[in-house]
Amino acid sequence: MNVQELKAAFEAAYGKQAEAVYFAPGRVNLIGEHTDYNGGSVFPCALSFGTYLLLSKNDEKFVNFRSMNQPEVTKLGLNELTTPLENSWVNYPLGVFAQYIKRGVEIKTGYDILIWGNVPNGAGLSSSAALEVVTAFALNEQLGTGFNRTVLAQIGQKAEHEFAFVNCGIMDQFASANGAKDHAIHLNCDTLEFELVPVKLEGVKILISNTHSPHKLDSGAYNQRVAECKLAVEQLNKVRPIKYLAELTEAEFKEIESAITDPVAHKRARHVVGEVQRTKDAVKALKAGDLTLFGQLMNASHVSLRDDYEVTGLQLDTMAEEAWKIDGVIGSRMTGGGFGGCTVSLVKDEAIDTFIEKVGAAYEAKTSIKPQFYIAEIGNGACKID
Ligand code: GLA
Repeated sequence: MNVQELKAAFEAAYGKQAEAVYFAPGRVNLIGEHTDYNGGSVFPCALSFGTYLLLSKNDEKFVNFRSMNQPEVTKLGLNELTTPLENSWVNYPLGVFAQYIKRGVEIKTGYDILIWGNVPNGAGLSSSAALEVVTAFALNEQLGTGFNRTVLAQIGQKAEHEFAFVNCGIMDQFASANGAKDHAIHLNCDTLEFELVPVKLEGVKILISNTHSPHKLDSGAYNQRVAECKLAVEQLNKVRPIKYLAELTEAEFKEIESAITDPVAHKRARHVVGEVQRTKDAVKALKAGDLTLFGQLMNASHVSLRDDYEVTGLQLDTMAEEAWKIDGVIGSRMTGGGFGGCTVSLVKDEAIDTFIEKVGAAYEAKTSIKPQFYIAEIGNGACKID
């Protein structure tokens, strides 16, 4: 859908013209997985696909939420914007309204809202963060609040915590808010300082492979990982005061790891400490143009997420392991929260077709699921389109 088509759809839905059109992208994380809520760094890029939000004020003191991706239409009074709904996509934008209200911002007028997104849902490419950030960005402009992009990301993250009940880190919303074309974001999730690193891949593409095995970032398994890391920190605090696992180098971790008596928490912590180091090394490698090392670190990241963090499973493992067999694949790993979703691979131009054909066939033979492949284009963060 292009912007003209979206505007026509708005008019058809509400019988008037949209006053503004906003966009926020999905993201793919190159490396640094499950490090964000552990005070570590991450290295995502914003994608060229994402979520569009069209809106117009109304005089009715109601906010109308419609999405072209969902059948239901929801109408809420201005005094009904602080309570989550049961099982509804509206919780993502609604959670953002609630955050504005929590910050003391008064919402005086109603809005008619239409959403359309082209991030595949449930693929672990942050369709929910894109929806949160586009809403946060739109309200910031409409309400004249002047929040910077980091605050907009934090508003989105809080909405996810309180309205989707996922205790996520800041990575997805931050990438959606702060992304820049042809750059990856090296974000320190403790200080929120970041650097945009050019991604110049001569003769190499970023290929996203969708396992089509629903990435269920349900509060269950994800929040459990968050809790296990917290337990590891608590146990380590008996021997050394730390706030986050990411404060420890691998050598420091080795010295005190025996303080973690819970074997599962111990494995989780080992992943985080190793992944933090891999992310630093990968950023250095990319800056130095050493893609071979970058790819090796991606592969090692997958192995650690598979064996220590246990967030992969048959589909993601098959997709990554089949990719590793192809000549011209520089690196391949799961991306995002895990438990289904996508892998991200760096693939030489001449190997793309073979990759899609061979990995696709092997994956389908093993899982009976048809995968899908996209060549990623790194796009900009949230913006006003019209
Ligand atoms: C999800 C969360 C992020 C991050 C990743 C794993 O995408 O929303 O905050 O924790 O999982 O790296």
